[in-house]
Amino acid sequence: MLEKYLPEGWHLNPRFVVSYKHSLAVSDAARRLANSISSLDPDTAYAYGLMHDVGKFHLELGELYKHPRMGYELLRGQYLDIAEICISHAFPDFSSFDHILRYCHDDTEEADAVYHILQGIPRTSYIDLVQFCDKISGVDGWMLLESKFDWYLSKSGMIRDEITNHYDMSLRAIKHRLDELAGEDVYGVLGIA
Ligand SMILES: [Fe+2]
Repeated sequence: MLEKYLPEGWHLNPRFVVSYKHSLAVSDAARRLANSISSLDPDTAYAYGLMHDVGKFHLELGELYKHPRMGYELLRGQYLDIAEICISHAFPDFSSFDHILRYCHDDTEEADAVYHILQGIPRTSYIDLVQFCDKISGVDGWMLLESKFDWYLSKSGMIRDEITNHYDMSLRAIKHRLDELAGEDVYGVLGIA
């Protein structure tokens, strides 16, 4: 399904190949975890994981912070459920405008638009699932939330402060909710721990 929304010749662009592999890692984790959570459908989880970053394939490097909303705009006409996964996957707390603004590189117009859309989206277990799987997935595999968070901080040049600490806590809360749903530690389900 993802291929249908990729630009022609995408496989010749190394950045797109990295994003594609990452999306496969996310979708694989999402399907495996959904297999352990009776209220979630594994095929749906796979499709959501695969599509969550589709917006990245339609933006220049300097605009990647816009990819959650780009994915939403691309898909909302046909697949509103996937569109909502796209716009929500970067934001563990929809009410944290400070984090949204920082994620959006202080582009207030983009942050306002994202915040406004997120307020109309109910936070579902699928949203938790894709967010968690995204935050543990690299290009070729999975890692602990802490490891990816440290990587994220160093890559983005961010430091630990009130906003990033809140982001970290919100991600841990998501993991906790998934642990509860699965009835076990989801790291164990994925063989990470
Ligand atoms: Fe993303």
